Amino acid sequence: MDNIRISIDSELCTLCGQCVAVCPRGIIELTPDSARIKNPDRCMLCGHCKSVCPVDAPQIHALNMGEFEPIPGPEKNPEPDDLLSFFRSRRSTRIYKKDAVPLNLLDKMVQAGRFAPTGGNRQPVRYTILHTPEMIEKTRTLTHQYLADEADKILETAEQHKTTGVPLPPRFGVRMGYAPLWKSMGKNYRKGKDLLFHFAPAVAVLHADPDISSPFCADIGLAAMQMVLMAQSLGLGTCFCGFLVTAINNCPELKTALKIPTENNAVLCFMIGYPDIAYLRMVSRQPGLINYL
Ligand SMILES: Cc1cc2nc3c(=O)[nH]c(=O)nc-3n(C[C@H](O)[C@H](O)[C@H](O)COP(=O)(O)O)c2cc1C
Repeated sequence: MDNIRISIDSELCTLCGQCVAVCPRGIIELTPDSARIKNPDRCMLCGHCKSVCPVDAPQIHALNMGEFEPIPGPEKNPEPDDLLSFFRSRRSTRIYKKDAVPLNLLDKMVQAGRFAPTGGNRQPVRYTILHTPEMIEKTRTLTHQYLADEADKILETAEQHKTTGVPLPPRFGVRMGYAPLWKSMGKNYRKGKDLLFHFAPAVAVLHADPDISSPFCADIGLAAMQMVLMAQSLGLGTCFCGFLVTAINNCPELKTALKIPTENNAVLCFMIGYPDIAYLRMVSRQPGLINYL
């Protein structure tokens, strides 16, 4: 049984055929006695067969079958307008209370991330959660150091371009725009202003090995948003931190300090903490730029 990832319990199967219809890989067939997995090695372990089976005949040995809990009825769904209000009420938090975020709440956020869809159900997302003052401080110091060094290099390149006409590297303008801020962030911190983490007590880093899944950036985006919305439901605030992503992917020392495997790319990082400010009004955004075709 050890090597069998998935099988159908023929004693339970009623031949209703729903697992055959729902399997995205088309690897289930009906035999006169029972449904049968034609090629278990091609199963992507999405669990659709088990989720729809009225008698729970599919046995997915490769998964924790205890997690296949009943789906609550539609009466438990949030009302569409309430859900939209919830989405519209989320704002990036840049003012945090000092209070630590309990580990069980951080874990609840990770649970929310785990259940986001991923391309081919490959589940490449890895979560690194910084939650101790020491780790946050170490990360902040290394990030400031990297960004200040990078800013110096950018300004040097700009100067060389001005004096000798050396062509600028691609997308230089974007990095040039950040250079003055990057240069000043460390100094600001020493003066009591944290423009990197805004003194958030926890930071999440979502990363993946690009070789596991080509849409890994999309996978991470979806997981991150579910985490952020879970945080909001837990009374926590969050704010994405693009500068930390840049630093992790370009500064090996920082990647090592965060115990992120060399081959992994960080895609999204966000601060987490209890907001020390209340938002009273929702925001206006561009109208949806839509083509209904
Ligand atoms: C990928 C990404 C990176 C971001 N990086 C930063 C950042 O480094 N620092 C920051 O203060 N906000 C950052 N933000 C937050 C955006 O500025 C913010 O989402 C946007 O202004 C809209 O405001 P709202 O989130 O409050 O609705 C980032 C947002 C995203 C999606």
